[in-house]
Amino acid sequence: MKVPAIDLKAQYEKIGEEVERAVAEVVREQMFILGPAVEKFEIEVARYLGAKYAIGVSSGSDALLLSLMALGIGPDDEVITPAFTFFATAGCIARLGAKPVFVDIRPDTFNIDVMQVKESITRRTRAIIPVHLYGQPAEIEDIVQAGGKYGAPVVEDACQAMGARINRKAAGTFGLAGCFSFYPSKNLGAWGEGGLIVTEDDRLSRLLRSLRNHGEMGRYRNERIGINGRMHGIQGAVLSVKLKYLDEWNAARRDAAARYDGLFRDAGLGEFVKTPVSTGGGHIYHQYVIRAARRDDLLEDLRDEGIGCTVYYPEPLHLQPCFSELHYKKGDLPHTEQACREVLALPIYPEITEEQQRYVVDKIKEFYEKREGK
Ligand SMILES: Cc1ncc(COP(=O)(O)O)c(C=O)c1O
Repeated sequence: MKVPAIDLKAQYEKIGEEVERAVAEVVREQMFILGPAVEKFEIEVARYLGAKYAIGVSSGSDALLLSLMALGIGPDDEVITPAFTFFATAGCIARLGAKPVFVDIRPDTFNIDVMQVKESITRRTRAIIPVHLYGQPAEIEDIVQAGGKYGAPVVEDACQAMGARINRKAAGTFGLAGCFSFYPSKNLGAWGEGGLIVTEDDRLSRLLRSLRNHGEMGRYRNERIGINGRMHGIQGAVLSVKLKYLDEWNAARRDAAARYDGLFRDAGLGEFVKTPVSTGGGHIYHQYVIRAARRDDLLEDLRDEGIGCTVYYPEPLHLQPCFSELHYKKGDLPHTEQACREVLALPIYPEITEEQQRYVVDKIKEFYEKREGK
């Protein structure tokens, strides 16, 4: 049996024709950059998230970059963020000449540790970027409160958390700005690159719309320097169709996660495998991530068995070569570093079958039986 890490073709089989009709409309109109399909999606996704403004952009990375640009972040500024995340979370800080201040994660949820955020705030802190990692909301209310006390706005990296909610309020709508990615493998994926910023702030939303279009305010009048960060019409059309299915897909992912939890419980592998902890119930399982003993051997073994699993993330950001001048060293963020050694993302997507999940857990059990005499 083969169990891919994600099966986008299964989704395409179900809704492909509907999406193609929407794409064909954009092609007929020849409105490829921004345009009516993007405007329609912005209205729909703002309503879905309960946000006042939604600004469609070129990627999640650019959503983060544009948010920091709109806050005027630059050299001598510090931005607090976790080191256990995708590179873009910190890359956008450094690209503006500001300094990423890395803090550790909670070992249970893999999300940023609020206590450490509070301890790291200084006179120079200009923003905090928590990440809702794997689709599980961080303790965002506490972080926003801590930032508010010291005048540090929160830019949420909700790139993995489209549709995750805390007491019915969407992840991404707690901070001054919330950033999303529509990379094809995300729970809401485009047919190419795409991203989104949401905010309640009138001024910020105008600034973001200008910055995503080179800083234009009116045709060919540049009041500031922005970037080419515009969403494509085809992606707007694709996303409008897919958004209708998102809650259904997220519910199916939750069911699949519960099924894994049960299968692992029955397998009695507690000594070797720790299943993910869901606090508050808002997890949308962009990834189902276990901690595994002998992770690298297990990964190789599962791949040989036709199971697509991945390590998010094998190297912590504070130890990346490009950040060497920040002078972090091994041991500075112990929970982050341990997670990098132990985590393994198992296949999860709405269409995954019980049979496939059983196969994954059976193969993991076989691995430990073979290696550990379990
Ligand atoms: C946590 C996180 N931040 C930022 C990004 C960047 O998004 P994109 O790939 O759309 O640029 C991603 C997605 O890849 C992500 O997972």
